[in-house]
Amino acid sequence: MAINIQAIRGMHDLLPDRIGLWQRLEDETRRVLESYGYSEIRTPLVEVTDLFKRSIGEVTDIVEKEMYSFPDSNGDSLSLRPEGTASCVRAAIEHGLLDQPRRLWYRGPMFRHERPQKGRYRQFHQIGVEVFGLEGPDIDQEVLFLTQRIWRTLGLEGLRLEVNSLGEAEERSAYRVELVAYLEAHHAHLDDDSRRRLLTNPLRVLDAKNPELREVIAGAPVLLDHLGEASKRHFEAFCAGLDDAGIPYQINPRLVRGLDYYNRTVFEWITDDLGAQGTVCAGGRYDGLVAQLGGRPTAAVGFAMGLERLVALLENGKANGLLSPPPLDAYLVAVGAAAQAAAPGLAELLRDAIPDLRLQCHCGGGSFKSQFKKADRSGARFALVLGEEELKRGILGVKPLRGDGEQRDLSHEELESFLLAARQDGP
Ligand code: HAM
Repeated sequence: MAINIQAIRGMHDLLPDRIGLWQRLEDETRRVLESYGYSEIRTPLVEVTDLFKRSIGEVTDIVEKEMYSFPDSNGDSLSLRPEGTASCVRAAIEHGLLDQPRRLWYRGPMFRHERPQKGRYRQFHQIGVEVFGLEGPDIDQEVLFLTQRIWRTLGLEGLRLEVNSLGEAEERSAYRVELVAYLEAHHAHLDDDSRRRLLTNPLRVLDAKNPELREVIAGAPVLLDHLGEASKRHFEAFCAGLDDAGIPYQINPRLVRGLDYYNRTVFEWITDDLGAQGTVCAGGRYDGLVAQLGGRPTAAVGFAMGLERLVALLENGKANGLLSPPPLDAYLVAVGAAAQAAAPGLAELLRDAIPDLRLQCHCGGGSFKSQFKKADRSGARFALVLGEEELKRGILGVKPLRGDGEQRDLSHEELESFLLAARQDGP
């Protein structure tokens, strides 16, 4: 029987024709993050399951039904990370990084067993930021300015910013009592999921996607009305900072987020161009999490952006011309056994001499004609031709592959100067 093994549903290969876009997104974002003084951190893809249960929350969609968990051979339950915040906090505690304010960023795949659809995958990629040890609204503003600058750098327009404050745990408890009373009074209008949430995690009812609940949710009491003085001042100062910076935003009192660790400021950047999965970046403050995971109490704030969604937006915006991978400068064609043996070494010498050179060396032999066809298809600007004759004379043939132009014979030194000049005035 023929074997037909395919990628797992919701997990995608990223092929060379689209990789340029990803790389530009990643490079530009990294540049902005570094320009704000953020340092990269890399954590394992797998952690003990408890880490996510204790941070994201037992009664969240992610922990209840979306984690890829499995027993290790010693019986420990491990999980593929569904997000990056919990791992960052664990690492920061474990390595004593919390003795001073830290601005960290990370990038990589995350895993959630969700129902795949456009913009929602089982393996997806995030670039995220976590800041530790700063409690004022100024850092909440900074992370937002940072995201805004990333959109500007990428040429992304039309993203909406929604913000809210979830207050502190005690403020939420008082609010929860009122919310539960309200939802119980409207029990008949709730769906099964919301009835269950009412008992386990009532704030999440506000996040229900069922349109039939819209009216009930719209009439529910509002958490913002239950904030204490300090939370209120924090939120007002945060919003005033956005006003001063001219960043338009909407206060959405129903914005509760799907992870339990948040307090005070939460925010989402949303696009209307991607259908249902329109949140491209989301985050907020989580001042209690470090202590909850065994560290000393440390204020924290962060966000993560979904790279698949940003790539989809960039593609919608026809950014492709800019974003295709840069073409090769040259493709080295080598015909005959001796030339084939010499070609890789020669290619190394050229790369040593011209560090930015984009050179591909033909491998696998073949006739001059078939190699030349590959050179042409590679998109390179020049074919470099090495045959027995060229080898003997210490030269290479250089033939322009784009537009007209005769083949010329150049010595190795001449070739270096030629390619250097081509590099400088080329794409
Ligand atoms: P999150 O809202 O779960 O937050 O995810 C952040 C972003 O990741 C989403 O806005 C979305 O763009 C993308 N995303 C999430 N799930 C998927 C999926 N299944 N397929 C494609 N993209 C997805 C967090 O992960 C928090 N750790 C953010 C954070 C960092 N808060 C504080 N610090």
